[in-house]
Amino acid sequence: MRFTVALTGMKAILAFACVIVRTVQTCGNPVDAVPLFRAFNPATGDHFYITNATEMGNAVASERYTREQDAARIFETEELSTVPFYRLFNPVIEDHFYTVSEEERDGAIASSECNDEGVPGYVYVDEGCGGEPFFRLFNQEAGDHFYTMSEGEVEFAETGGYVFEKIAAFTLEV
Ligand SMILES: *[C@@H]1O[C@H](CO)[C@@H](O)[C@H](O)[C@H]1NC(C)=O
Repeated sequence: MRFTVALTGMKAILAFACVIVRTVQTCGNPVDAVPLFRAFNPATGDHFYITNATEMGNAVASERYTREQDAARIFETEELSTVPFYRLFNPVIEDHFYTVSEEERDGAIASSECNDEGVPGYVYVDEGCGGEPFFRLFNQEAGDHFYTMSEGEVEFAETGGYVFEKIAAFTLEV
C-alpha cells in the first residue's frame, strides 16, 4: 500500500518533470535563427526569399534581383516545433512560392507546373515559440507571391494589386 502510494507520487513527479522539460525544449533556440533574405526582380515582378547568402548574391549579380530588407529570421536546420518551408518556382509566371503545406506544394507541382526547389529553411506554424505572422499575398497581374511580417507592408501592397491570402508561417522578427 505504502509502496503504491510512493510509486504513484513518483509517477506524478515524473509526469510533472516531463511537462516542464517539454515546454522548455519544444522550441528552437532563437539564437540559431538566420536571416531570410528578400529580393525583388522588377523585370519579372518576382519576390525571392533565401537564407543562402551565396545564392542571394548570384540572384542579384546575374538575374537582376534587387536586394530588399530581410524578411524574417528562420532556422536553417529542423528544430523542435518547426516544419519545412517548401520553396517552389513557377517558370511560366516567374514566381517563387513558399508553403508549409505538403498538399499545397504537391498541388502546385501538379497543376501549375511549379518546380520543387527544396527547403530553404524551417518555420513555426503557430505563435507558441515566439514567432509572429509571416503574411502571404498574391498579385494576379504580376504573378507574384509576396511575403512579409510587416502589417504596414501588407496594407501598402494591397493598394498595389496584392491580395492577402493567408498567414504562411510564424517567423522570428529580424
Ligand atoms: C549556398 O549556395 C551555394 C551556391 O549554390 C552552394 O554551393 C552552397 O552549398 C550553399 N550553402 C548551403 C549552406 O546550403
